[in-house]
Amino acid sequence: MTQQTTHNASVAPWTPRSWREKPIKHQPAYEDASALKQVIDRLRNYPPLVFAGEARALKKALASVAAGEAFLLQGGDCAESFAEFHALNIRDTFRVILQMAVVMTFAARIPVIKVGRLAGQFAKPRSQADETRDGVTLPSYKGDIINDSAFTPAARAADPERIIQAYNQSAATLNLLRAFAQGGYADLHRIHKWTLEFVQDHPLSERYDALAQNLEQALDFMAAAGITAENSPQIREVAFYTSHEALLLPYEEALTRTDSTTGDCYDVSAHFLWLGDRTRQPDHAHVEFLRGINNPIGIKCGPTMTGEGLIELLDILNPDNEAGRITLISRMGRNKVEEHLAPLVRRMKAEGRSIVWSCDPMHGNTINAANGYKTRVFDTILSEVKQFFAIHHAEGTHAGGIHIEMTGQDVTECTGGGREVKEENLSERYHTHCDPRLNASQALELAFLIADELESHRKRGR
Ligand code: PEP
Ligand code: CO
Repeated sequence: MTQQTTHNASVAPWTPRSWREKPIKHQPAYEDASALKQVIDRLRNYPPLVFAGEARALKKALASVAAGEAFLLQGGDCAESFAEFHALNIRDTFRVILQMAVVMTFAARIPVIKVGRLAGQFAKPRSQADETRDGVTLPSYKGDIINDSAFTPAARAADPERIIQAYNQSAATLNLLRAFAQGGYADLHRIHKWTLEFVQDHPLSERYDALAQNLEQALDFMAAAGITAENSPQIREVAFYTSHEALLLPYEEALTRTDSTTGDCYDVSAHFLWLGDRTRQPDHAHVEFLRGINNPIGIKCGPTMTGEGLIELLDILNPDNEAGRITLISRMGRNKVEEHLAPLVRRMKAEGRSIVWSCDPMHGNTINAANGYKTRVFDTILSEVKQFFAIHHAEGTHAGGIHIEMTGQDVTECTGGGREVKEENLSERYHTHCDPRLNASQALELAFLIADELESHRKRGR
């Protein structure tokens, strides 16, 4: 199926650049248009970061999530940065995602599809276009692919060369991720060993110990039965996919290519691209761009998303109701999820839309701590996740996944968790370039708590 030809005769044909005819939000103002054009022209000749066949494999996996037969785990930085680009950072984030996935797979007894907010998650929409400090107003920091966070006019100017640096960093990150995923690092036994160590050292270890021990026994049993890393790729390798918000459209356009196998267009900057909550206007550029690429895509759904609005978007973005194409990432906030998510779920079910329902419990739950730090409270995050599961259980739909901002590092950006981060600790290791992330311990703890939900839903019958 090609989405280049549209079903609605009144809609103009799609091309990778047809978004340029539409109104657009959250784009930087580049002072030198010809410098931007030169960069984009260079990028058009650069190799793809991912392959169309991989995006198709992910879409197929997501179709199984939509059918209730798998679970999606999507996580990583709010914003990747040039400064934090390091093999150890990539390794540690990858490791925590795998640890979370193992715990959740065991609890749910269904495959967990792993997708990183990695290798391209650089561009950020900002609530304020400008920032004022001590009477000086400069453009907001919009992510390392666009400008620098230092508060000087030069740093805050949008610089096209950063696009090339972001591409190169994404290529190197993907190269390392592919090596980790296939080169033996992802061995299930090793992943579990790290988790056991985590549980043993954890202040709430008795809470997590039973699941960890049961999983240990399952792995021992498999090894005794002769299923080992040496003879089973399923034990030593993982499929790991990448994703980011499709925000900076000149970059996405330059990496949109026609797949030689199918003749369809794919955005080869990542396997999965999502539409942000601030750029989902149906007649605007971001929706226009995403409608024509064949990757699986996400739509962030904040509290202002209505059933009507969502149907309108789906008619544009998935006119054939293709399974696996659409992941709805709800980010309502813990006080709004009940009121706003349940009607959307009911409406999509009534309309027979094939949907992966994923919960982003981060973006609706950001607060300012008394000391000025932007933070999120672990229990609030958990509360939104629990309500998400309860709503799907009540509606008879599949709670399909979670989408989180996390890192493998021991940062102090979100408060709470068993190894409690308090507001007064936030200044200790607050490294994020944008939103506060769960640290490795909080992320793994969340996985154990989600595992409880998955397990109890499995036992009650999904
Ligand atoms: C994000 O995921 O980093 C983001 C900006 O989310 P949202 O569009 O949901 O606010
Ligand atoms: Co964010």
